Amino acid sequence: MPLARTHSIALVGVQGHLVEVEADIENGMVALLLVGLPDTALREARDRIRSAIVNSQETWPSRRITVGLSPASLPKRGSGFDLAIAIAILAAAGAVPSADLPGMAMIGELGLDGRVHPVPGVLPAAAAAAAAGVSVLAVAADNAAEAALVPDLRVLATPSLSAMTAWLRGADSPGPAMTVLEPGRDLESLFAVTTTRARPGSRHQSGRDLADLVGQPVARKAAEICAAGGHHLMLLGPPGVGKTMLAERIPTVLPPLEPAAALEVSAIHSVAGTLPPGCPLIAEAPFCAPHHTATRAAIVGGGSGVVRPGAASLAHHGCLFLDDTSDECKHPRATSAPWRRLT
Ligand SMILES: Nc1ncnc2c1ncn2[C@@H]1O[C@H](COP(=O)(O)OP(=O)(O)OP(=O)(O)O)[C@@H](O)[C@H]1O
Ligand SMILES: [Mg+2]
Repeated sequence: MPLARTHSIALVGVQGHLVEVEADIENGMVALLLVGLPDTALREARDRIRSAIVNSQETWPSRRITVGLSPASLPKRGSGFDLAIAIAILAAAGAVPSADLPGMAMIGELGLDGRVHPVPGVLPAAAAAAAAGVSVLAVAADNAAEAALVPDLRVLATPSLSAMTAWLRGADSPGPAMTVLEPGRDLESLFAVTTTRARPGSRHQSGRDLADLVGQPVARKAAEICAAGGHHLMLLGPPGVGKTMLAERIPTVLPPLEPAAALEVSAIHSVAGTLPPGCPLIAEAPFCAPHHTATRAAIVGGGSGVVRPGAASLAHHGCLFLDDTSDECKHPRATSAPWRRLT
């Protein structure tokens, strides 16, 4: 079969789009052509995939291979398409059966030795895959817990390309085996386990507690009202009265996130690559305190190509704390900062 199709997911911001990966093998000059608006990281996939296939004891088809990523108008960024491209090439070469490939999507970066490495943004990609009708999603083993937050997907935790080819052939893998997480997982129960620490009366994971603050009843009441109602709060007062201390303790009185909000927050942190290891679901309100010298891009986000959420996005559904910790902010006239001497 000279032509085979697999699927992967392209992220635009935190929105995933299903991408069809087609591999066509024909006679001609030996080459691997990649078409469909790939970025630099994706262009380099050609070299990674060739080494990964050869080092997984598979045969590289020494013919002219064209790989098309469609829709071609959608920019494809990052290295998460490697696994889908490698399997499409092997299926086109007849090395693996292609019967299971419809209804299946793959996300993962290939190492030169054939291992599958995790990539950021798997949670929103998995949600987009499920919404597009994908029933089986293959991801790197380290991304599996994150993908498993989408309950309707059968998740394949893929340690290596050889494990993936063995699974498609219905055989046992020679190396580390594939772990299969069946669909129908109960997100509510997972959420309940994750939020046990966030129950009223238990200490916040940061180790801080609003009870540490002595006195300041008015400021404290204002903070509690703002935490309950989701309002903005500005703290003004003389140095050393506990403004920073109080602000840092506001997340400790914020209620645990609702499941939908927890998924939203986790998706943003998944794209930013800031999900805590071993804990794919952020169930407590996030707290973000950028440095007072942080740039505009660090606060509002940016990134060319791959989106980089800023502090404001990372604090979504939580608390963004902007402190004036520098002497320049407090005593602008007395400062000797170089930029001030120049003006
Ligand atoms: N009400 C308070 N209860 C307990 N400790 C306090 C209180 N106010 C201040 N402190 C102690 O003083 C330290 C400094 O307080 P903090 O940094 O919060 O003051 P601040 O109002 O933010 O001052 P600045 O305007 O200089 O930033 C705190 O780390 C804490 O140890
Ligand atoms: Mg302060």
